[in-house]
Amino acid sequence: MRIAVLVSGNGSNLQALIDANLSGQIIGVLSNKFDAYALQRAENANIATAVISHKDYPNRESFDAAMHQQLLAWQVDLVILAGFMRILTPNFVSQWQGKMLNIHPSLLPFYKGVNTHQRVLNTGDRLHGCTVHFVTAELDAGQSIAQSAIQVGLHDTVESLAQRVHELEHFIYPQVAEWLCNGQLTWRNGQAYFNQKPLERPIQFAQF
Ligand code: GRF
Repeated sequence: MRIAVLVSGNGSNLQALIDANLSGQIIGVLSNKFDAYALQRAENANIATAVISHKDYPNRESFDAAMHQQLLAWQVDLVILAGFMRILTPNFVSQWQGKMLNIHPSLLPFYKGVNTHQRVLNTGDRLHGCTVHFVTAELDAGQSIAQSAIQVGLHDTVESLAQRVHELEHFIYPQVAEWLCNGQLTWRNGQAYFNQKPLERPIQFAQF
């Protein structure tokens, strides 16, 4: 599997994917931001980088088309979104159906979108976590593959939740990526299969 990782920021999930020595190969890291620290991480690991700034394109369609060209040039089989902060067009997403993963800092379907940690604290939820899912055109709504949960403590803050959820992310994201690389996880006709059986509900990782 030839993998591209799409980033916009720090790239701690990219680092976890690099460190996991997946059986697929990370061919390139694509950022929409020149100053994303993730680019530095890629360079440190001798991985090719490309920056395609959304600001250079008049609309989402043309930006996504430029990204698509880069992914084709890298001959990518799998696209991993790791803190990529742009909404993708349905046309782009449909070209990578079943071949594009995202990680989201909540227990989907709860708390789609941004500021998940703050919203969990505001609601007073006692359970929080992260979800790896296939990407479909609707934001944060593709089939969930794996989740990991933590209990929210009385003293948790946005910062502590962000840190605790990140630790879970760094564990489950490389695991799910590896399942796609080694063929344990597949996608056929809009449905995820795990070990050849339809995946009925997300795989739950033990609480930390
Ligand atoms: C993570 O919390 C991930 O769930 C979300 O964006 C954040 C990226 O963090 N999609 P990093 O850049 O990988 O450190």
